[in-house]
Order: sequence, then C-alpha cells, then structure tokens
Amino acid sequence: MERKKSIGVSLRNVVKMFGNNTVLNGIDLEIAPGSLTTLLGPSGCGKTTILRLIAGLELPTSGQVFIGDEDVSTHSASQRDVAMVFQSYALFPHMTVGENVGYGLKVQKVPPTERAARVADALGSVGLSGFESRFIDQLSGGQQQRVAVARALILEPHVMLFDEPLSNLDTKLRRQMRDDIRRLQQETGITSVYVTHDQNEALAVSDQVVVMKEGGIAQIGPPESLYHRPNSAFVATFMGDANILDAELLREDNEAFVRIRQSRVPLGDKAAEMPAGPVRVAIRPEALSLSAPGSGEGGFTGHVTSRAYIGSATEYLLDSDGEELFAVIPAGAPVYAPGADVRITIDPVGVAVIGS
Ligand SMILES: Nc1ncnc2c1ncn2[C@@H]1O[C@H](COP(=O)(O)OP(=O)(O)OP(=O)(O)O)[C@@H](O)[C@H]1O
Ligand SMILES: [Mg+2]
Repeated sequence: MERKKSIGVSLRNVVKMFGNNTVLNGIDLEIAPGSLTTLLGPSGCGKTTILRLIAGLELPTSGQVFIGDEDVSTHSASQRDVAMVFQSYALFPHMTVGENVGYGLKVQKVPPTERAARVADALGSVGLSGFESRFIDQLSGGQQQRVAVARALILEPHVMLFDEPLSNLDTKLRRQMRDDIRRLQQETGITSVYVTHDQNEALAVSDQVVVMKEGGIAQIGPPESLYHRPNSAFVATFMGDANILDAELLREDNEAFVRIRQSRVPLGDKAAEMPAGPVRVAIRPEALSLSAPGSGEGGFTGHVTSRAYIGSATEYLLDSDGEELFAVIPAGAPVYAPGADVRITIDPVGVAVIGS
C-alpha cells in the first residue's frame, strides 16, 4: 500500500458539554505524526468522546481540533481524512466481505477493477486473502474484527481511530490482533488513536499513553514512564497493582531517598523537583522481596497474612506493624506460610513518589 505522509493531531483546550454536563473539561493533547496514542481510563471518563471529536462525529463546545496544520474544529466527518474502527465492528451483514471492505471506495466512485485490487490488497494485509465472497455471518469474531480493520485501512486515511476494537475477543486472539494492529500501524505510518480499558494492551501497543479521569487528563507519557513514574495514586493503581504508603523524602549529598518504614530506598532522578518531607509512594507488588528474618541488611520485618499460588508467581498479603502490603513473588523463590515472619526488601525500580 502506498504511503501518505504522516500528519499529527492536536486538541487545544477542548471542552465538550452535553447539555449542562461537562464531559471533557479542557483537553490539551498532541499526537505525533505516525504514532499510536492510547486513551485509557474508567468507563465514562470521555475516551469515546475524544475519538468522536477527532472524527467529526461531534463538534467541540469550545477549543480546537487540528489535523496536521489544519483547524478542522467545525469540519464535518466527511471533510476529514479519518477512519474509525468500532467496538461493534459495524459491518454490513447483508454484504460480502469484499463489499464491506470496498464500500468506502465505491462511495468515492473508484472504478471496479481498481477497487477489487485494493480490496484484495487490504484483505491481504489483515491475513484474509481470498475471503472476498464470504458473508459476515460466516466469519469468526476475530475475522470480523479484521474485516473492520481492512475496511478502515483501505481508505488510506491520515488518521485511524480504534474504539476498544478487541473487547469482544478472547485473550489469545486479543494478543494476536493487538500485535497485528500495531504492526500494520507501524508499516503504514498512519497516525492512530486507540481506546482500551485494558492497561496491558495500552502498555503493549503504544508510543504514548493518556490516562484519563473524569473528563480530564491524569497523566500522559510513554508506557514505561506511566508504569514506573505514575504521578498519582490514581494512575499508579490504574496502570497495575500498587501499594500506596506514607513515606519520607530525604535529601543527602545531592541524592534523594525515601524512607519507607525502616528501609531507605534511593530514588535516582525520580524526585528531581520535590522538597524533602512527608510524601506518599507507590510500590509495585513485584518490587517487594521476601527472605528469612535476620538474613541480611536493610528492609523491614513483617509477617505473612495470606498467600495464593497463581502459577507463575505467589501472591502474598503481608502485615508490617499494621501496614498491609501486597507482594507478587516469582515462582522459584522460597515460599512462606501464613503466619511466618519475613524480612521485606524493596527494589527501587518499582518505587514512585506520587506526592504528599
Ligand atoms: N450524546 C451524548 N449525550 C449525552 N451524554 C453523553 C453523550 N455521549 C456521551 N455522553 C456522556 O459523556 C460521558 C463520557 O462518555 P464516553 O462515551 O466518552 O465515555 P468512555 O470513556 O468512552 O466510556 P466507556 O469506557 O464506558 O466506553 C459519559 O458520562 C456519557 O454518559
Ligand atoms: Mg467508550
């Protein structure tokens, strides 16, 4: 498929109200040309509304939407070079696969021979060569999903929007489709915005993740930084499990540490601008290690409240002087029974300061 030049998308102070209800409260968002940005957040936080504003299916109450250098804020959907893949796929059941995929080209009055060639090309790129004459109800859920992607891709849009495209699929198929969508996106260089509830999906496919909360943006960044440097308890717990604890930020000789119970955990550059004093920290459950009491330096003591074997790891609930901690310890490490005393140590990589 021939490549168009990739162009970016920006939202500038976008407000969207439905009646008196403010659904987006001033969104500023830059989506780089050729990148994949994921919108992640609880139900009702405004993810679909952002996609609909980019597609032109809704217009902003105030603020602007740019596609490339062009202010498209008041343009209709048909005036924008954007294609959307819906959660429900929204395929036409009475048409064949080929007719579904070629529909947009037919509307554009592309001649039948060229249309057939481009349909074959688009079906090839989603792994459905030869499926042209099948009807939609003769396809599996995963195949229908691929038809929906091919139908958007064939338009060679500047921008592709995906609204929870994989939520009807089982786990194994989701992983495969997720990787296929990412590969196609990178091959075509089509700037894409992808909505999901699933943080693993977001971490796996994105250049940039936007965590949303109640119509606003809680944090934006590349996947690793959102996982390892969440700026709030909300983001830390949305991007996985986290223990949220009170701690104290210390500065000594230009180095920053946090004191978490009796542990001193170096922060590297993770607390650059923060003053010393009381803080809260988020600790990933896999950053905790357990060993026998008195077996080494550092750490602090606690006991096992309960444990659960989950195959690849053992999950522990721990108590340290009334502070509850959740730990995930990989299989192969020594196991401790409920009631056992343990020494708990913390890997600094899994610690983030989330404010006071
Ligand atoms: N056409 C509309 N009229 C009135 N309210 C609407 C309309 N569309 C969306 N809303 C409201 O706007 C808010 C955000 O909706 P949106 O569909 O963007 O959420 P979402 O983040 O996509 O949620 P989900 O994860 O459940 O799909 C919700 O409170 C919703 O009820
Ligand atoms: Mg939605």
